[in-house]
Amino acid sequence: MARLIFESTEEEKDVEDGSPLAEVCEEAGVPFACTEGVCGTCVIEVEEGMENLSPFTQEEKDFLGEQDKERLACQCRIQGGCVKIKF
Ligand code: FES
Repeated sequence: MARLIFESTEEEKDVEDGSPLAEVCEEAGVPFACTEGVCGTCVIEVEEGMENLSPFTQEEKDFLGEQDKERLACQCRIQGGCVKIKF
């Protein structure tokens, strides 16, 4: 089991290891549009636990470039452990 924490609301959600972030983030209020890693609507900031997310997709590399805090919620999965995000 993995845990996703939303910093702004202190809401915590338990999800299966390997789950995509999209559904749980959408429920928490993260906006989505293309869901294909192109538009950038779903950008989230990872406060803790970046190492628990799946590797950057090519779409994320293309959109976000070289940085170490932001991810596209439509593209990544939580692999386990705990991840704290802000949006
Ligand atoms: S919804 Fe468009 S990049 Fe994620």
